Amino acid sequence: MTGAATGRKAAIIGGGVIGGGWAARFLLHGWNVSVFDPHADAARRVGEVLSSARRSLPALADVPMPIEGVLTFTEHLDAAVAGAQWIQESVPEDLALKQAVLAEVQAHVADDAIIGSSTSGFKPSELQHGASDPSQILVAHPFNPVYLLPLVELVAGSASEAGTMQRAREVLASIGMAPLEVRNEIDAHLADRLMEAVWREGLWLVNDDIATTEEIDNSIRYGFGLRWAQMGLFETFRLAGGEEGMAHFIRQFGPALQWPWTKLTNVPELTEELVQKIASQSDAQSGARSIRELEAIRDRNLVGMLRMLKEQDWGAGTILKAHDDFLSSSAAPADDWSAPLRLLELSVLPGWIDYNGHMTEFRYVQVFSDSCEALLRRVGMHDEYVEAGNSWFTAETHNQFIDEVAVNEPMYSTVQVLLADGKRLHVFYRLHAADDDRLLATLEAMYLHVNTATGKVAAASDEAMQVLAEIAAAHAELETPEAAGRSVGQRSQD
Ligand SMILES: NC(=O)c1ccc[n+]([C@@H]2O[C@H](COP(=O)([O-])OP(=O)(O)OC[C@H]3O[C@@H](n4cnc5c(N)ncnc54)[C@H](O)[C@@H]3O)[C@@H](O)[C@H]2O)c1
Repeated sequence: MTGAATGRKAAIIGGGVIGGGWAARFLLHGWNVSVFDPHADAARRVGEVLSSARRSLPALADVPMPIEGVLTFTEHLDAAVAGAQWIQESVPEDLALKQAVLAEVQAHVADDAIIGSSTSGFKPSELQHGASDPSQILVAHPFNPVYLLPLVELVAGSASEAGTMQRAREVLASIGMAPLEVRNEIDAHLADRLMEAVWREGLWLVNDDIATTEEIDNSIRYGFGLRWAQMGLFETFRLAGGEEGMAHFIRQFGPALQWPWTKLTNVPELTEELVQKIASQSDAQSGARSIRELEAIRDRNLVGMLRMLKEQDWGAGTILKAHDDFLSSSAAPADDWSAPLRLLELSVLPGWIDYNGHMTEFRYVQVFSDSCEALLRRVGMHDEYVEAGNSWFTAETHNQFIDEVAVNEPMYSTVQVLLADGKRLHVFYRLHAADDDRLLATLEAMYLHVNTATGKVAAASDEAMQVLAEIAAAHAELETPEAAGRSVGQRSQD
């Protein structure tokens, strides 16, 4: 069982790397999406981004995702934007082209639709210039891959209105993004300005034969890149100052900014020779793998890192946790319990496999444990419920490992409620491969409802019991799983 589709529509104008990522993020959050891109290959390219997103984005959630929306491609821009609540312009970075596209969009959209631009460099006031309703246009600058990275820089122009910005924040948060409002519009917003500073120094280091592209990348990914991913720049440097603090750190390292080899603002001339040098070093470093392979590696690594941060409730992981709460609170009340409830959609992460190349045993257990969390949240076990002294404790389990599953394979879990009598909850989970519904493993579990203050078994709340009783009554109509009640070593009931 997944949440409901939203019935809302997003129009994506320009279906390249970024437009494809936006399309995937909206679709997987239940929006219907229309793409307009005159390129002959646009549908294939968006389809490939969507396949990557389907493999990775659901693996970040521990609650049911909405039902995927419907994707359409249109031959004309007006058909794409008709009836859309959000229009995302993602055409190439050319101001005149963007202004022309925005003018055509505005001729066909509702007055209250929001038009976001993915521009990396232009200020919203430049995009608003000459527009029929400039207040509708804002910058919503995402980061590649748009379907995984939560950051979106939200920038208002001189004609923007507070109400539109507020609605924009709400829409972006509802699709799992973290809108960071850039308070003063500047060329290239915030993050690209920072990346540009590092990029400039990197170009100099290659230009001056100090380091190769690979050595520079290693200096980032083996060291400070890991620190930045979870603490950023200032918080990281705060720690470098030790107990004496940030001011001490700046006094200590500030003079280095004057050293002659720091070239913070100069840009090396991008001669053909330098471009070729960088390109051939990059080929030597990464050319053995295709772009698609590298994208898949990047996505798997990002999912692993984001999930770790989610476990720590830190940085981008805190955004994911808040998004789970949002998704579970906005899921449609499930009144159809006529089948086992679908709980998790996820895929096998690279760190989850054993020496045979298959998902290792304890990850099966983890998936069932996460499925249990998802079930208990569905029946109202949120933070307040636990803080009030209520919890379900696991009393007994029986696991069956039935089939192997390889790295990156998508999976889903379901639960069938066998008994819910107020104090006891007896359930049967199944884990399936998503591609062919193959049964991978099962877990039968008995939970006891406990008052954590007394440590004694106690009745669940009336609200929790009401939902559980409804599910249990519906599931009583289902066939009892053949393996339910089995003991170790018993492969069938006969
Ligand atoms: N690539 C990135 O990492 C990145 C990150 C953030 C923002 N951006 C910004 O996103 C925008 C798009 O960048 P991209 O990297 O996706 O470029 P891209 O070249 O991959 O895609 C652009 C797409 O726009 C289509 N297009 C061209 N003219 C069009 C028109 N008139 N109407 C509709 N579609 C049209 C092209 O066919 C192409 O598919 C740019 O403004 C860029 O600055 C890019």
